[in-house]
Amino acid sequence: MARIELQDVTKRFDDVTAVEGLTIELRDGEFVVLVGPSGCGKSTTLRLISGLETVSAGRVRIGDRDVTDLDAAQRGVSMVFQDYALFPHMTARRNITFGITSSNDFDGDEIDRRVDEAARTLDIEDLLDRKPSELSGGEQQRVAIGRTLVRDPDVFLMDEPLSNLDAKLRVQMRAELQELHRELGTTTVYVTHDQEEAMTLADRVVVMAGGEIMQVDPPQRLYDYPDNQFVAEFIGSPSMNVVPVAVERGRRDGEYVAVHRDFEVPLPAKPSLEPVVGEPANFGVRPEDATPVDAPTEYSFDIEVSVTENLGDELLILGSVGDRDVRVRSENPREEFEPGETVHVECDPDRLHLFDPETGEALYHSEGAGEGVADPAEAAAASRGSES
Ligand SMILES: Nc1ncnc2c1ncn2[C@@H]1O[C@H](COP(=O)(O)OP(=O)(O)OP(=O)(O)O)[C@@H](O)[C@H]1O
Ligand SMILES: [Mg+2]
Repeated sequence: MARIELQDVTKRFDDVTAVEGLTIELRDGEFVVLVGPSGCGKSTTLRLISGLETVSAGRVRIGDRDVTDLDAAQRGVSMVFQDYALFPHMTARRNITFGITSSNDFDGDEIDRRVDEAARTLDIEDLLDRKPSELSGGEQQRVAIGRTLVRDPDVFLMDEPLSNLDAKLRVQMRAELQELHRELGTTTVYVTHDQEEAMTLADRVVVMAGGEIMQVDPPQRLYDYPDNQFVAEFIGSPSMNVVPVAVERGRRDGEYVAVHRDFEVPLPAKPSLEPVVGEPANFGVRPEDATPVDAPTEYSFDIEVSVTENLGDELLILGSVGDRDVRVRSENPREEFEPGETVHVECDPDRLHLFDPETGEALYHSEGAGEGVADPAEAAAASRGSES
């Protein structure tokens, strides 16, 4: 087991900068998921940790060693690839042992013992004599994981290992990976572009965009306190609604209010609101935090319905406010709304967000207003204040 540290790591391919200035410390035994849109540098980051790519600048440390200049084979890591990279002409057993048999690290008995143990853990004992073409996608995936297990690495690296599986198998394998991690406690870095996979698997999620880190936090914290509009919109499905507003104060008894041409929503008071007064901001509310109500309320605004999607256990309503599309959720899937109908939707006052329209930085999260709960936007504002 080992901690991993990237220090100001940059990777350039000719004129493409794949990742830039990554600094992050992954704890020993932690399950960390890298998530972000296609091309944001996830695989490159993993390959830089593994040693399959060398850094253009910066340092990589695994455990107590600086491995920046070491080969992949010397780093004590083991990687599972998206396409499993199994040899088609070899049995599952040979695929699992390939490489370690030739490296002389272990003798034959030790190898057999390790394969048996890995096969038991992964429940593939009866499949070891089959070739990959005789295995299902999920079974091939287990063989690929078996290959990393027998190496008993300090670090597991996995690049979209479940992306070739159907939805049901993916959910099942996800649970098995969690179980495996609980058992072995090996530091794991897992890449996916699926934010749901990231949320369910990770101790901490690293959200990346354009080769840079946007936020590193445990899943729930990321969801409740996104550091910026990118994270707010990327994490959560359907996405958070974002509508441009102006923040004003004093219209109703000195209350803070988000003002849009078509609505006004009060913002529970917090010190982080004061600098935003008189400024434009992007107002954010998640679909599940804006629900239809029969009559207008203090926290409601009106949307014009365009379509509804019945998900069986809930209803998703797509509509608009001015020229902005918004999505809201109703817990009652049997409720009916007609296209063109005006619906009042009420926001949960504890779940409102404001972002800087230019930088995307989070300016305000309403949760915990007045209850002394730490607000990261506030803490950030305070630390910026103390620096200047
Ligand atoms: N060997 C290479 N040569 C040139 N450019 C590369 C190379 N590998 C990656 N890139 C570029 O670096 C950027 C990051 O690529 P990377 O594969 O890390 O993205 P990713 O986040 O894994 O994307 P995906 O979700 O599509 O797998 C992309 O712009 C990609 O085109
Ligand atoms: Mg990739």
